Amino acid sequence: MRGQLLRSALSVMFTILCLLTLLSTLIWYIIDNSNVGPQRPPLEKKIVPQPSDTCKGCRETINKVIEQYSHTWKRQEDNYREFRSQLNSRCHGYDKAIITQANTPLGSRLLYDGDKRKSLQVSPEIFSTFAKEDPFSNKTLDTCAVIGNGGILTNSSCGNMIDSAQFVIRCNLPPLDNGYEKHVGIKTDLVTANPSILIEKYGALMARRRPFVESLRRYGNSLLLLPAFSYGHNTPVSLRAFYTIEDFKSPTRPVFFNPEYLQSLALFWRSQGLRAVRLSSGLIMASLALELCTDVHLYGFWPFSNHPHDLHVLTNHYYDDRKTKTKFHAMPAEFELLLRLHSQGVLRLHLGECHPGEK
Ligand SMILES: *[C@@H]1O[C@H](CO)[C@@H](O)[C@H](O)[C@H]1NC(C)=O
Ligand SMILES: *[C@@H]1O[C@H](CO)[C@@H](O)[C@H](O)[C@H]1NC(C)=O
Repeated sequence: MRGQLLRSALSVMFTILCLLTLLSTLIWYIIDNSNVGPQRPPLEKKIVPQPSDTCKGCRETINKVIEQYSHTWKRQEDNYREFRSQLNSRCHGYDKAIITQANTPLGSRLLYDGDKRKSLQVSPEIFSTFAKEDPFSNKTLDTCAVIGNGGILTNSSCGNMIDSAQFVIRCNLPPLDNGYEKHVGIKTDLVTANPSILIEKYGALMARRRPFVESLRRYGNSLLLLPAFSYGHNTPVSLRAFYTIEDFKSPTRPVFFNPEYLQSLALFWRSQGLRAVRLSSGLIMASLALELCTDVHLYGFWPFSNHPHDLHVLTNHYYDDRKTKTKFHAMPAEFELLLRLHSQGVLRLHLGECHPGEK
């Protein structure tokens, strides 16, 4: 009885307190607004994004990069040989990067490099899709260009220089038409394809397959390199890509990444200080080029969203502005390593525009 009385007394008091607070706020509001004084600025000033806003302190970083980059580049044979022999001895890309019937016999077991719990025993059906011989063995390539697809290639006029390379490597089925030729070239000797693009753009090749085959036409008879044995779900779609190319008699030559090579390459870069869950296709192809070619040039490798010269905002790729969904790639860290190799005269990074006659 007494408790109930107390409780209702308390609730009345609480209500009064609330009303008082409300009333005083109202009074203060009226007094405040009746003040005749200078006009207060509107609270929400519209913020117009400036290049420096998206840059977020990138100027300093970019300046550092440019300082390191712009020393006159000079090829340093000793550094190149040293780095190449390390790669050769630890990764054997020249005869291991691609699965062949020679390096992966029937009945052997493939260990997936992206999913350590998964492996696959090579059946006769799978074996028949393997390259009969290594496309690189006993071949020395001189100048190779690896194209990283960065927005920095937009309006770069690098097309002719890229096409002048003996061997041109591209990543993830990039578009080359629509006026891009002038800036990225057209020549392609090897192109990679992530299964995600086959799934998104070509319905995982479960329905009509002709659009996929037609999209390959621009790459002519180049090698199409698929990471078929990196993750379990990569295998069926990669095999469908292989069969589609075969069934449509496309001149493109599909081949598969050797997961053993990818694994040893990841360990190699880790030993060089790279902390990344997965290597980007760009770094993988640059590494392979360093084993196969005497002269490696990289284009479209630039991890910042602003152009090095005037800091204008760049799109993510030269052909679109889609951000990569996965957080797998540690781009700036990879770039730092490539920049180091550039400074050491091991390979040559091309940033900014190309000029006719430049080599
Ligand atoms: C590559 O060269 C080695 C030794 O020079 C030779 O035994 C091998 O058959 C050659 N491979 C190809 C595919 O020509
Ligand atoms: C590239 O050049 C074209 C033609 O000169 C121009 O319209 C376009 O705005 C340029 N794009 C960029 C990102 O600078």
